[in-house]
Amino acid sequence: MVVDPMCGSGTTIDVCKEEGRQVVGYDIAPQHSEVIQNDARNIPLDDESVDMVFIDSPYGDNVKYSEHPDCIGRISCEENLFYEELEKVAQEIYRILKPGKVMAWLIGDQWVKKRFTPVGFKLYGMLCKYFETVDIVVVARRGQSSHTGVWHNRAKRFNFYLRGFKYLFIMRKSYPEDTTVKKTNKIKWAKYK
Ligand SMILES: C[S@@+](CC[C@H](N)C(=O)[O-])C[C@H]1O[C@@H](n2cnc3c(N)ncnc32)[C@H](O)[C@@H]1O
Repeated sequence: MVVDPMCGSGTTIDVCKEEGRQVVGYDIAPQHSEVIQNDARNIPLDDESVDMVFIDSPYGDNVKYSEHPDCIGRISCEENLFYEELEKVAQEIYRILKPGKVMAWLIGDQWVKKRFTPVGFKLYGMLCKYFETVDIVVVARRGQSSHTGVWHNRAKRFNFYLRGFKYLFIMRKSYPEDTTVKKTNKIKWAKYK
């Protein structure tokens, strides 16, 4: 059972269906017939009922997603409030996930008006309060509009780096008493065959 609390145009629903997984997608302003209207800070699911959460949250107020007053994408990532609201979402994800299960959160940094905001690192710091890290994947943004001559020229002219990647934070909700992790540093390579 996969849940996407900010499912937008429903990519997660389409992918889960292709892979034969059960899925529920929510969004404050749905753009897909199967996405249910809901605020990610209050997910209508029971505690510990979900096997995986994927979330692609706003990165700040760089994109206008909707006019909805509760859209977190109306808050600048330069304000603490942005991370406080995302923390409420993280707490809900923690609540609905079964112990030992994993969530993946996609996010990018911001560079606006000569000011860089490390949105990814700020979010990651907050997520570490709740989850243990499984892995961090850097997702290259190939084929996006920043990968064109127009943006290359702007970057040279106005002296900024093109933001060519996003982070995918893959994190696990621990068991109350995690007995699955053996306290040894020795790697048994045969196990990985
Ligand atoms: C980066 S987009 C997600 C795109 C999505 N992965 C897709 O395939 O279209 C971020 C989404 O977060 C949604 N959002 C913003 N605030 C929200 C909130 N409080 N509760 C639920 N969704 C919210 C926006 O409406 C937007 O669709």
